[in-house]
Amino acid sequence: MTFTPGAELADPLADRFGEDAATAVAHPNIALVKYWGKRDESYFLPVTGSLSMTLDIYPTTTTVRLSTEPADTVVLNDRPAVGEAYARVARFLDLVRARAGRDEHAEVVSANAGPTGAGLASSASGFAALAVAAAAAYGLDADARALSRLARRGSGSACRSIFGGFVVWHAGEGNGEAGDANSYAEPIDGDALDPALVVAVVDKASKAVSSREAMRRTCDTSPFYLPWADASRIDLEEMRKAIARRDLPAVGEIAERNALGMHASMLLARPSVRYLSPRSVEVLDRVLALRADGIAAYATIDAGPNVTVLCARADEHRVIAALREVGGVVDMPVAHLGPGAALVPDGAR
Ligand code: ADP
Ligand code: DP6
Repeated sequence: MTFTPGAELADPLADRFGEDAATAVAHPNIALVKYWGKRDESYFLPVTGSLSMTLDIYPTTTTVRLSTEPADTVVLNDRPAVGEAYARVARFLDLVRARAGRDEHAEVVSANAGPTGAGLASSASGFAALAVAAAAAYGLDADARALSRLARRGSGSACRSIFGGFVVWHAGEGNGEAGDANSYAEPIDGDALDPALVVAVVDKASKAVSSREAMRRTCDTSPFYLPWADASRIDLEEMRKAIARRDLPAVGEIAERNALGMHASMLLARPSVRYLSPRSVEVLDRVLALRADGIAAYATIDAGPNVTVLCARADEHRVIAALREVGGVVDMPVAHLGPGAALVPDGAR
């Protein structure tokens, strides 16, 4: 699979191979303007629009094979999925089956190359890969936009991983089926910005509070939630303009304030949600020091302790060297703009 930034597959299912099995690969995306809060939980409709970059690291590979078993089976990272991890996949397959008018169960085998549940968007790559593989295995007729809407029902952020490069997720309007129709992601032109994202991994462990629960609690109880959402709408408009004029410092400043605002909103949830660890704060301090030294580096943090640092490709080695000095950074992959989700052709599996 080759990728030219911006050159999206018009139809990710074009390489559909088997009648009853399909394998897909998708990459995580890191939001520069975050999705945080649902207006309709059952349809995964967001309160605000968001904007992300799809990465070229940490792919998820998922195979869906239709089976004659009495229930779905799910293997995630070499272990049978249980509890909520299993239920999320089975509910998603129910949706695909209802749309396809079929009732066979499936064997799902999925592996994340990156950490799972650590705030590095495994649910985004996971459900984007599952959407593409399941749609192919069940024979759904779905173009990229329909796949984005479908992936959204597994995990909201997954709708953005259907596409490569910079991606905007339109919040849309209305709830239920009406809202479902107009809440999808699409790629935007921004490849010329050619950013690097240095991932400072300080903890690979799975978070104690899921993004979903933290998001719900913040919306329901934080007095900072609505002010953050109002500011985020403005951030999205400004971010689109900054990307269009290739203004990396502006992109970084907006991304950093948007993420810190999201974390502030969850700190004020009742009970409070705090994903940031002392090590996250040390990385944030180091990013400030880099800026004081004249390097345009900016941090963003998802629902976890790991910090990702946006900079120009030309500066990535200086950023890596500076972050290496922070104790407790256990891994530091560097991502660039990555591809949208795609089927793996039969012969390549
Ligand atoms: P993250 O920060 O990694 O996105 P979340 O709490 O949002 O963490 O989501 C993690 C959950 O997403 C997992 O517990 C599991 O339910 C689901 N998930 C992650 N990877 C996959 C995958 N490859 N296939 C299906 N579900 C997945
Ligand atoms: C902080 O997409 O994992 O990463 O829709 O409930 O599955 P659900 O939530 P999820 O939340 C992502 C939150 C975030 C911000 C973002 O990716 O925009």
